[in-house]
Amino acid sequence: MSLQPTPPKIGILDSGVGGLSVLREIHHLLPDADIHYLGDSAWCPYGNKAPEVILDRVVTITDYLLGKGVEIIVIACNSATIHAVGALRATYPIPIVGMEPAVKPAAALTRSGVIGVLATEASIAGEKFHQLVTQHANGVRVITRPCPRFVELVEAGILSGPEAESAVRKAIDPLVESGADVFVLGCTHYPFLRAVVEKMTPAESHVVDTGPAVAKRVASLLEPVSAIHRERSEIHIETTGGLEQLDLLLPKLLPGIKATTAKAEIS
Ligand code: DGL
Repeated sequence: MSLQPTPPKIGILDSGVGGLSVLREIHHLLPDADIHYLGDSAWCPYGNKAPEVILDRVVTITDYLLGKGVEIIVIACNSATIHAVGALRATYPIPIVGMEPAVKPAAALTRSGVIGVLATEASIAGEKFHQLVTQHANGVRVITRPCPRFVELVEAGILSGPEAESAVRKAIDPLVESGADVFVLGCTHYPFLRAVVEKMTPAESHVVDTGPAVAKRVASLLEPVSAIHRERSEIHIETTGGLEQLDLLLPKLLPGIKATTAKAEIS
């Protein structure tokens, strides 16, 4: 009997539960892959933290996930990617997948020549974001908009209703008034508010999220082992924050996906 290789375990990290929007895309594409997720909710948000603090957290979490046997790291956080992906790739001899606000596809989609990028302050302030705009959005007006309230809402499990609608309206209305017809969800927490964002944006406009593209990238790196069919995959989700809160959020954020949870052994 020949031994089947096992698909590599995927490690995913974020400042909190936002990266679960990427986990669901990866699980959708690779339902047989084991996933170990670490949400750094005790340190959330990253969006207002200094680059050195973000890098330090990402390194600590990466070491922790490697200790759990992951063989690929997905930085499911735009803010953390911007400030840590280079250092991680230079340090660890495993694939490191990062993500950045979808400026390039948005610039290709716009008809009005104006795109709105919703992202954290940490993402927008980085030199990497500036380069992204210069390289891929030449001739397009890019209006950035940090939405720290969106992160708070998602961490609290408020994904719809008056509170979510008023926060989204406040962020989106000025962009719509400026003529934006493409709206980039440049933070992994924001896709959980996508339905509200779509309600507030003109019918003919586009809302863009990088999650599906990241999942495709992970799948391409794991081929051909990702094609192995197994009875069941394991999804384990840990938090540095409150475990009770995580357990309350999961049915809302990942409906239909079975996962075990635990409090992370790092603080
Ligand atoms: N989910 C994160 C991102 O993609 C950051 C949210 C935060 O901690 O501010 O940028």
